Amino acid sequence: SAIHRTETGVAGCPFHQAAVSPTGCPVSPEAAAFDPFDAPYQLDPAEALRWAREQQPVFYSPRLGYWVVSRYEDVKAVFRDNLLFSPSIALEKLTPAPPEAMKILESHGYAMRRTMVNEDEPDHMERRRLLMEAFLPEHLEKHEAWVRELVRDYMDRFIDKGHVDLVAEMFREIPMTVALRFLGVPEEDAQELRRFSVAHTLNTWGRPSPAQQLQIAEDVGRFWQSAQAILDRMLAEPTGEGWMYDSIRMHAEHPDIVPESYLRSMMMAILVAAHETTAFATTNAFRTLLSHRESWNDICENPALIPSAIEECLRVAGSVVAWRRIATDDTEVGGEKIPKGGRLLIVQASANQDRRHWENPEAFDIYRHNAAEHLTFGYGAHQCMGKNIARMEMRVILDEFVRRLPHMQLVEDQAFEYLPNISFRGATSLWVEWDPAQNPERRTPSVLENPTHFRIGAPVKDDILRRVVVSEVEREAEAVIRVDLVDPHGRELPDWSPGSHIELVSGEWRRCYSLCGTCGDRSRLSIAILREPEGRGGSVHFHDTLEPGDVLHIAGPKNHFPLDEAVPRYTLIAGGIGITPILAMADRLKALGKPYAFHYCGAGRRTMAFLDRVERDHEAALTLHAGDEGCRLDLPRGLAGLSEGEQVYACGPERMLEALEALAVDWPEGTLHVEHFTARSSILDPEHEHAFDARLADSDLTVRVSNDQTLLEALTAAGVDVPSDCCEGLCGTCEVAVAEGDIDHRDLVLSRAERDANDRMMACCSRAKGKRLVLSL
Ligand code: HEM
Ligand code: FES
Repeated sequence: SAIHRTETGVAGCPFHQAAVSPTGCPVSPEAAAFDPFDAPYQLDPAEALRWAREQQPVFYSPRLGYWVVSRYEDVKAVFRDNLLFSPSIALEKLTPAPPEAMKILESHGYAMRRTMVNEDEPDHMERRRLLMEAFLPEHLEKHEAWVRELVRDYMDRFIDKGHVDLVAEMFREIPMTVALRFLGVPEEDAQELRRFSVAHTLNTWGRPSPAQQLQIAEDVGRFWQSAQAILDRMLAEPTGEGWMYDSIRMHAEHPDIVPESYLRSMMMAILVAAHETTAFATTNAFRTLLSHRESWNDICENPALIPSAIEECLRVAGSVVAWRRIATDDTEVGGEKIPKGGRLLIVQASANQDRRHWENPEAFDIYRHNAAEHLTFGYGAHQCMGKNIARMEMRVILDEFVRRLPHMQLVEDQAFEYLPNISFRGATSLWVEWDPAQNPERRTPSVLENPTHFRIGAPVKDDILRRVVVSEVEREAEAVIRVDLVDPHGRELPDWSPGSHIELVSGEWRRCYSLCGTCGDRSRLSIAILREPEGRGGSVHFHDTLEPGDVLHIAGPKNHFPLDEAVPRYTLIAGGIGITPILAMADRLKALGKPYAFHYCGAGRRTMAFLDRVERDHEAALTLHAGDEGCRLDLPRGLAGLSEGEQVYACGPERMLEALEALAVDWPEGTLHVEHFTARSSILDPEHEHAFDARLADSDLTVRVSNDQTLLEALTAAGVDVPSDCCEGLCGTCEVAVAEGDIDHRDLVLSRAERDANDRMMACCSRAKGKRLVLSL
């Protein structure tokens, strides 16, 4: 009931004695009490905002003078619209400096202006596109080898010691060295810069006391001066290699887009962007993994899990927990009114644990298929340009540790401290210990050979592989085996629904198989494999080699063929090995007590898998169509008289599915469901897209873009190289020039004016409005 005076000077309502926000809304007690400098937010920002995610997803914080945004969709929406929510305040001092501190900064010539992260459109995107090249995956590849050398070098210094503070000895050092080399800055300058970057964080995102403000101003001023001295040396001889030299050359060519004030500000800001973020993220990742020992052990056994594990660490323990935007107009976020000029604190750490987006958000699961959807790198046009450098560094560091120090443990009962600020989160020390006598390299020097090579970029969902063991291989029919898979440690496997499939991976082989066991039985996963001598070889390989005890990998389960359980009646049609998903569906429908007809077709009984089980469990609904007994399924007859609302689920040979699709043209929409294994782009819904032609004027080539393909995919398939990165319309890498034709823009990169000009498009997501586009390619 206390009146809270806010920094913007808004006082509580005199009648109700409760604080109100600048829009006149009452401030709830939780919102009034919220202070990001209090322990709960400093220790665990996602937990500190749990109440908000549930009760008041967007609230005004009088103590901060900001609207706080806590849910995934809202945080993403604010990131996405960088015109309505300008990033111009991203590097603003959260706590204004007293005049004496300002004087100190001025005495150092401090002149931090717009860089990239706080620049508005259209300048931002033009600049970002000019400076993007060095960040493209094909240019990052070459850095991995020397980053690994560096990591080994640091580890050699303490590998025989048995205990170390990883932050002091390594995690604070490596990202700075990597950043400097990437920028092209000579390393002699590193030590000093490292010391100052902490001051910059407190200056920008902290709440220093007036006395601390003076010391911080002094350090920030000296940081600025060091950065300028380095830049001046580079400007005097601008022939070196590295991103700062690229920027200097771009400045010479396009001084309007890359002005000198940008170079001066970025020289300092990029060190913080590249150094502290990655140092903290690495610290958080190691702490998280070492306190989830099963996950750590899984990675030690299988370092291919590292990329997905890192994404899960960035989700639950990211190093950038909140970011800032300012509303450029009156608007609403998550149902809450925000006035023009309203400042927003968008809390990624909270979004990353929003149960509306994440299954089981509090569980740390390195096999989570969508962990890379975390918002720790931001989202939209400003999404972190350095994310793939950070990922590469973190992956290489972790790969070296799981090989060389798999027996390492966190020192128990250590106290963790954090720099008091609203955005950057990571412990300032991390003590670990191990018995050096157990170091694997003392016995097996080859642990250092054949390090894992990581493909640059976010992990492809299909690369998130779980290790399984074959527990049983059984013949189910002529040429069909059933394979049961279990967890190597006897743990539960993930749950799945009828229609789901897994991808079985063994060496070079990767094949999709539908699950045909019992839903809800989490002790095993069962698949059936038909030996196809005319196929591409995978099925023959599995038939000839699989034995109980074999260790394999799987991706998934995933479900592209889900069963709608809210339908009054079903017809199920299985052709040959297509029985696998259909059998799981039949089991489910029977358990639900739903009426269904079940047609099972095959060349003859001896070739039809699971016949005993099908006849035993589904006799009442079953019609068998064994070809060699002369009873083939007559589709038009079998499917005559579908009842109202009935749905048909079918899996089988291509001929059968085509015949069904031809019949279904007269059925109501959504009646027929068939299994598709062909990969489709996740952002496209082929039912709502049309195909078009892209005429490539420079190469005298016409490329057909089908309704289930992106322009980028079609160009790549035609052998035309267009660089790409995010493949989601976020990064601007895949821009192509358009000479003719109306563009259906779907990206988040181009400004309104740029879209209206209709002369360029992002190939990864944008399409043609009409039948044809002419590209200058
Ligand atoms: C922008 C996080 C590492 C360079 C950003 C943003 C975030 C972020 C939250 C703002 C995104 C937005 O407004 O949507 C991180 C994290 C890192 C990391 C968590 C490490 C784990 C790096 C590295 C570099 C880098 C290593 C450079 C080598 C940049 C740049 C931008 C940026 C240049 C501005 C992009 C733009 O505004 O267009 N980063 N970052 N970051 N980051 Fe990173
Ligand atoms: Fe990123 Fe297309 S916008 S690849």
